[in-house]
Amino acid sequence: MRILFIGDVVGSPGREMVEEYLPKLKEKYQPAATIINGENAASGKGITEKIYRRFLECGAQAVTLGNHSWDKKEIFDFIDDADYLIRPANFPEGTPGSGMTFIKTPKAEIAVINLQGRTFLAPNDDPFRKIDDLIAQAKKRTNVIFLDFHAEATSEKQAMGWYVDGRVSVNVGTHTHIQTADERILPAGTGYISDVGMTGPYDGILGMEREAVLKRFLTNLPVRFEVPKKGRTQLSGFLADVDERTGKAQKVERILINDDHPFFR
Ligand SMILES: [Fe+2]
Repeated sequence: MRILFIGDVVGSPGREMVEEYLPKLKEKYQPAATIINGENAASGKGITEKIYRRFLECGAQAVTLGNHSWDKKEIFDFIDDADYLIRPANFPEGTPGSGMTFIKTPKAEIAVINLQGRTFLAPNDDPFRKIDDLIAQAKKRTNVIFLDFHAEATSEKQAMGWYVDGRVSVNVGTHTHIQTADERILPAGTGYISDVGMTGPYDGILGMEREAVLKRFLTNLPVRFEVPKKGRTQLSGFLADVDERTGKAQKVERILINDDHPFFR
């Protein structure tokens, strides 16, 4: 089965790219399931119920989050009822929501897991110990396991990839907003990329207005980062073909759509 993942959707420019290209990507690649990282979908920080529902209407089956999970306060009102919206599973015990969900496809169920790294991010529970528990739980239902590891450091991401090799089907990295060109199938069968990259403004800095980010670098003054309303946009994604019987990845492909990497049907 084929799984399509769309990397960190940033604000309305990112959401518009999903609206425009998700139907085209589905037509071209015919994925059995689509998963979106939506932690930056509401003006760059967090997600609202309306946006979550819209992603499902556009054809996603699950939405993952990250360090901006709680930035829109309304999330506390709906996350516990949103069956296909997951936050990092290694957030402390007692945190609302959950870190794993199961999506149905015609061939097999997919366990979708979200975890967050600890290097240069909040000191959450150990994602390595946590993934062991989650894999054991998931394996009772399916061999197809998809992991979005939301983390800053490529070292921690690579470490996770090797740690889960052969035990999860696909391990994508998110959070840095910059796509890495290291997609591969690890020796024991895990489809891997350190970071899928970002879906949103193409000429900003990590999806934010570059003038504000530059001012911060040049002056160290406090500045407000906003998602640019106008300008060129991009979509970053990842495709993986998985043998649903063994849970091993058979083929992976990086997707990048912008003016320098045009989309062909
Ligand atoms: Fe993030």
